[in-house]
Amino acid sequence: MADELSAYQQAFYSQVGERFEGFQQMRGMGAAFRADGAVITTTRAAAERVFQNPEIYSSRFGPICGAHRPLIPIEIDPPDHHLYRRLLDPMFAPRTINALEPQIAALVNELIDGFIADGGCRFDSQFAVPLPTQVFLALMGLPLADAAFLLEMKDGLLRPGYREGLTDPVAVEALNQAVVVKVYDYFQAFVDERRKGPLRDDMMGQVMNGEIEGRRLTDEEILDACFLLLLAGLDTITNSLTLFYHQFANRPDLRMEVANNPDTIPSAVEELLRWETPTPQVYRVAVADDELMGCPVHKGDVVVIDLGAANTDPAFQPDAGELHFDREPNPHYSFTGGIHRCSGSHLARQELRIALREWHRRIPDYWMKPGTTPAWPPGLRSVENLHLEWKL
Ligand code: HEM
Repeated sequence: MADELSAYQQAFYSQVGERFEGFQQMRGMGAAFRADGAVITTTRAAAERVFQNPEIYSSRFGPICGAHRPLIPIEIDPPDHHLYRRLLDPMFAPRTINALEPQIAALVNELIDGFIADGGCRFDSQFAVPLPTQVFLALMGLPLADAAFLLEMKDGLLRPGYREGLTDPVAVEALNQAVVVKVYDYFQAFVDERRKGPLRDDMMGQVMNGEIEGRRLTDEEILDACFLLLLAGLDTITNSLTLFYHQFANRPDLRMEVANNPDTIPSAVEELLRWETPTPQVYRVAVADDELMGCPVHKGDVVVIDLGAANTDPAFQPDAGELHFDREPNPHYSFTGGIHRCSGSHLARQELRIALREWHRRIPDYWMKPGTTPAWPPGLRSVENLHLEWKL
């Protein structure tokens, strides 16, 4: 058991280096195995079985990030789950998101205009944070002036204490709970203020005025949906951009492939999402006994679905540990599968594709600034302090 756990922890905590060795060791323990009181899946087939059976593997595993109630819809099981998805899905539909192309491209170019002549930038804070933040706030109808506050809140939920340098678990927990309360208060005040004015058609308006089963959402439901959108909207695309550009800066061959052949960008984005797996694990809780690929699962067990291991399972993809931008088909699990598949995947893809296209059109050749060292924050996979340089 100790060996099993340490191998899992190695893969779990390893943000850098040989993640794949850890995945391989884990797969050696079985498609699913028990460690530290949880069941961990290590293959694509095991992940698929969990995602396809939500009546056994419930999403009520929270609380997520210290929230006081289940987040909507990520912690909602059938039959209610689809009611919320029916409300949210049209907001993220491909047609809606495709229409944002000109605005996203303009924003990408505006950000690049701000630093291109400097011959370098700090990629995370000057590009990867502001791009998704500004797109998300505009979509939601939240004030751009609140960006710094909302980013601080998001970090206080996803990696509490990291920015403040706190390590004492009691202090970290206190900080997280203070942030949770501030997030509820912020959205409640926003909703109250909005109700005084005319109906608006942005995402906040659609969440507030949309109906499920012939009724409006309660304030608690609105807040529980906004809480999740804040986490998802402000972190994941930033994380993906930093992981992708860290890779490009270290792999001139891949960078040149994208710069010389922009048509490859959509499949490059899919392959980078698969290989990097920015959200490395998702969780479920068993509400019935089961046998998962030979591993006994007991009611009440937490099940950790290791998406990185599933995405690099050699039984699922040939040469799975390598990046191939022409990989086709590439049905990875970076947005998971089954009923909880990411609502924001079209938005994420659209932003990532436009960012790669416009950036490489204008800055095809770049590298890590000598003497700088990137950092790997806790939480979802991402890179910070990513200094890039180029010559025009
Ligand atoms: C590359 C960027 C993104 C990645 C890697 C990602 C990843 C994920 C994953 C893995 C899940 C499933 C969790 C589970 O099965 O328990 C998920 C769900 C979700 N994501 Fe994303 N996400 C991204 C971007 C976004 C964006 C931009 C938004 C919205 C602004 C968003 C909104 C959501 C929502 C609402 C859910 C819950 C879906 C449900 O439970 O039915 N995501 N995402």
